[in-house]
Parts: sequence; structure tokens; C-alpha cells
Amino acid sequence: MAIQWFPGHMHLTQKAIGERIKNIDVVIELLDARLPGSSANPMLAELTAGKPALKVLNKQDLADPARTADWLAHYNALPGTRALALDASVATPAKALVKACFELAPNRGGMVKPMRVLICGIPNVGKSTLINTLTGKRAAKTGDEAGITKLEQRISLADDFYLYDTPGVLWPRIIVAKSGYNLAASGAIGRNAFNEEEVALELLDYLKTHYADLLAARYKLDTVGALNDEELLEAIGRKRGALQGGKRVNLQKAAEIVIYDFRAAAMGRITLETPAEFAQWLSEGRKLDAKRQIRKDAIELDRLVRFKKIPRPS
Ligand code: G4P
Repeated sequence: MAIQWFPGHMHLTQKAIGERIKNIDVVIELLDARLPGSSANPMLAELTAGKPALKVLNKQDLADPARTADWLAHYNALPGTRALALDASVATPAKALVKACFELAPNRGGMVKPMRVLICGIPNVGKSTLINTLTGKRAAKTGDEAGITKLEQRISLADDFYLYDTPGVLWPRIIVAKSGYNLAASGAIGRNAFNEEEVALELLDYLKTHYADLLAARYKLDTVGALNDEELLEAIGRKRGALQGGKRVNLQKAAEIVIYDFRAAAMGRITLETPAEFAQWLSEGRKLDAKRQIRKDAIELDRLVRFKKIPRPS
């Protein structure tokens, strides 16, 4: 079953971003470099359409470097868009951010026309960590609970460069089932909203095809290719001693191990989607949405014909 995740209160953030965006020159969207497509919020794209965009692939230390390069090339080829990769070990990220923003909006700068930048990102993408590095202090993390709107933070990165933190929380929005699983695996979705076993099986299904060597090395398995997802989870559980009642594998525990290992990059640096794969998932998701809409329209029409007695269109 696909993961459903509607934390609500998005409309508050939506309204606040809509207000703030009027006076913004560049929008920085922090993405998780392990799942750049799924960690983007489609609502943000709608709200900020037309504004120059800087995509920051954060946590690059956990992601597959070759795939990060592919994603950077993908974004850098889009009009009005620049991309760079970052991680928390970069001591002075401000320099690269400031440079990229001035490239995107070269008409800004100086005290009369300071650069005004909005920084956004779904929870857990590393926004607080980055802002703390930029400000050189440990700012309190607030506003992660639904309904709590953060006080707006303005950070000066130079005399003529202001960075505004997103007002409110930009929750992820799941548009395709695959994105839901990838967001859950990365830690961006609350624990209670998904089933670990299901997420681990989806993760293993992908890793088996794209990172079989890393799986085999981490869990000392020489039969990765011959096992189906369930058998793979069971083999990992057995190897790692996740057993219950004698010799039976505790699949829940095995799933937690797989997810934990992925989050800690214990198998190695992994990226769960390529630009081409994500584009395909998106197009499949949109087709499903369109089909769903046609069904809903047919039900509504039927209701109108039966209860309001409108003539059925020929
Ligand atoms: P948020 O504001 O976007 O919600 O994210 P936050 O900065 O709180 O970061 C979420 C988690 O990701 C934190 O780990 C943080 O340490 C980690 N993180 C942030 N940036 C990077 C990065 O570039 N690379 C890696 N590997 N991790 C990063 P945590 O386990 O939730 O907290 P803690 O153990 O650091 O206290």
C-alpha cells in the first residue's frame, strides 16, 4: 500500500510563502541529494514560478557522487536555474551560495538593491544545520509541529545579501508511490506514517538492481541477484541475528536494520533516483491522477443526472 502523508497546515505555509515571494529575487530549495526529485515540493515550484532558482543538493556526503553530478547537470540545464551540492562538513557554504545567487540575479546588489533570497526545504533536509553554519551559532529549531508558524528569520550573509528562512514548514507532498517510499527511507516522514517492512522491501528492490555490490559487501551475501525482495530481507535478518522464537527471522527488526544502514550510508553512498527515473515516475503518477479525475468526474455527472435531473450529455 502506498504511503499517505498529509500533515495538514500546508495552506498556512502556502499563504506565507505566497506573500513573501513578492519581494524575493532568488529561491534556494534544499533537496536531499539521495532523492532530489522526491524531496522537492511541487507546491513550491508553483508558488515560485518565474523566480530564479538555486537547487542545493544537500547531504551530498551520503549520496552517490556520479548521480549527484547527473542531477546537477539536469538542474543546470533548466532555464533560470543553478544547482550546487553541499554537506554539513563544508565550513563556509556562504561563499558558493552568494556567488550562485548573484549569477542568477545579476541586477541585484548594493545597498539600494540588496539581494533577497528565500531558503526552503522539507523537514530533515538539513536546513537548520546549514543556517546554523551560515550564522555561526546554534539557533533553536522551532516550528516542526503542524500549525506552529515560525518567526521569520533574516540572515545577512553580506551587507547587500539577505537570506530569509521559509515562514512555516514545507512538508513533502507525495505525488508518486515511489517518492513516498524514498522519503520514508530517508527519514523525511514520521515513523508512524509508514510500515518499515514495506519500505525496506521497496528499498531492497531498488538496491538489488542498482547497488547489488554494496548490498553483498555490507551483509556478506553472495546470492543477492538470485533472491527476491522477501528472501533478501530474510537473508539480511539472518546474517545480522535479527531472530525470534528460535530460528525465525524477525522481519520488522531486519527492516529497521536495512533502513538504519541506508540512512547512515553504512552500505556506501547511495542515490535512490536518477533524473530520468524520476521523470518517468512523475509521468506515470500524472497519468494515474488523470484517470482518477476522469472516474471522479463520471461519478459526479451520474449524481447530477440522477438527483438534479440534468440531461445526460450524448
Ligand atoms: P531540517 O532543519 O531541515 O529539519 O534538518 P536538520 O538541520 O535538523 O538536519 C536533519 C538531520 O540531518 C540531522 O541529523 C543533521 O545532523 C543531519 N544533517 C544535516 N546536514 C547534513 C549533511 O550534510 N550530511 C549528513 N550526513 N547529515 C546531515 P539528526 O540525526 O536528526 O540529528 P543530530 O544527530 O545531528 O542531532
